[in-house]
Amino acid sequence: MKSIDEIRRIVEENESWRNSTLNLIAAENIMFPEVTGELYCNDFMHRYAEGKPYQRYYNGTKFIDELESACEMHFREHFRCHYADVRPISGAIANLAVFSGLPYTNGKVVTNSLPAGGHITHNKMGTISKVCKREVYNFVADGSNPFKMDVDASIKLIRDISPDFIVLGKSMFLHPEPVRELRNEFPGLIIVYDAAHVFGLIYGGEFQAPFDEGADIITASTHKTFPGPQGGIILIKNEMPFEKSIDSAIFPGILSSHHLNRIPALLATAIAYDTKHKDYGRKVIETAQKLSEMLAAAGYVVCGYDGKKYTYTHQVVLDVAGMGGGVAVANKLEKNGIIVNKNSLPWDKSVINPSGIRIGVQEAVLRGMDAEQIFEKLDRALKS
Ligand SMILES: Cc1ncc(COP(=O)(O)O)c(C=O)c1O
Repeated sequence: MKSIDEIRRIVEENESWRNSTLNLIAAENIMFPEVTGELYCNDFMHRYAEGKPYQRYYNGTKFIDELESACEMHFREHFRCHYADVRPISGAIANLAVFSGLPYTNGKVVTNSLPAGGHITHNKMGTISKVCKREVYNFVADGSNPFKMDVDASIKLIRDISPDFIVLGKSMFLHPEPVRELRNEFPGLIIVYDAAHVFGLIYGGEFQAPFDEGADIITASTHKTFPGPQGGIILIKNEMPFEKSIDSAIFPGILSSHHLNRIPALLATAIAYDTKHKDYGRKVIETAQKLSEMLAAAGYVVCGYDGKKYTYTHQVVLDVAGMGGGVAVANKLEKNGIIVNKNSLPWDKSVINPSGIRIGVQEAVLRGMDAEQIFEKLDRALKS
C-alpha cells in the first residue's frame, strides 16, 4: 500500500515532469495565471447544491447560488442566448443531457463519424447510441479533403432519413462546420453544435459563431481551448420546448453533485478572457496556422489543406505513416519531452495503429511560446 507521502511525491513528480515537457495534447489546457488557488481549490469542493440557483434541495448554498447564477448570466450575455447551464461536469455529460433531452421521433440522428474526427459520444459505441438509443448515421466526408464534410451529399442524407436532430462539431477539428448551409437547407431542423474543442476560439470571436449561423444548442468542455477548469456547459439560443427536459436531464437525471468548486474558476476564466487575454483565441489560431506551414515547408505531411490553409483551429494534424505510424511517433516524442496523441486519419483501416498524430498549440501559447519555438522543438524531436 502506498503511504500518503508517496502519493504526495508522485503528485509532485507529475507536476514537475509535466511542467518540464511541451504539452501539445489538443484536448487539454492549463488555466489563465489569474485563476489560481482558492478560485478552484475551495470549500465548495466539499458541498452539494442539487437543483438550480436559489431553488436548491440543500441548505447552505447562498454563496454558490450567487456565483452560479452570475456565471450563467455571464455566458448568456456573452453568447446572447436564452439559456446557459454550467452544471455539466464535462463535455460528455453536457452531450448526454442534450441527446437524452431532445425529442425522440424516429430515433435517428446524423453526426460526424469517428474517422472524420467525430467524438465517441456522437457515435455507435458511445452515449448517443448506447445510452440514448438513437440510430446513428454519419455525414458524408468530402472526397478530396475528408477532414471536411461533403455538404451536398450530407444534405441528401438528412433529407432521406429525417433525423430528430443533427450534431456538428468534432474532436479532430480543422475547418469550420457548414452550419449556415445546413440551416438554410433545413429551417426547422434541430442543430446541436458540439464545441468541446473550439469553445475558447468561439468565445474569443475568432472561429465561426454557431448561434449566428443557425445552431440551436451548443455543448462544450470548459477546459480545452477555453482555458477554464475541467467541466462542461450547455447553451440554448432561443426558448425551445425541450429546454426543460434538457435541464432536468442534468438534475435529477444525471448529476447529484456538480462539483461546485469549479464554478468560481469558470466565471473568473471568462472575465480574465474578456479583460486581460482578449487576443488569446487569435494567437492560438495564428500559431497553429504558422506551425502547420512551417511543418509542411520542412517536408512533413500536414493534413487538411483546403487550398488556403491547413487549419482554422488550434489543431494541426500530421500523417506520420511514413515515419513508423502514430503510436511510434507519439512514443518517440514523449521520450523527447513532447506530449501529443496518436490519431486515426479518415482513411485508416485500424484504430490500433493509427497513421496520424494530432497537435494542439493552445497550452503552449498560454505558456508564452510561439510557432517558431514549437516547431524547433518538434522538428528536433521528430528527427532524433
Ligand atoms: C467533440 C468532443 N465532444 C465531447 C468531448 C467530451 O468532453 P469532456 O472530455 O469534457 O467530457 C470531447 C472530448 O475531447 C470532444 O472532443
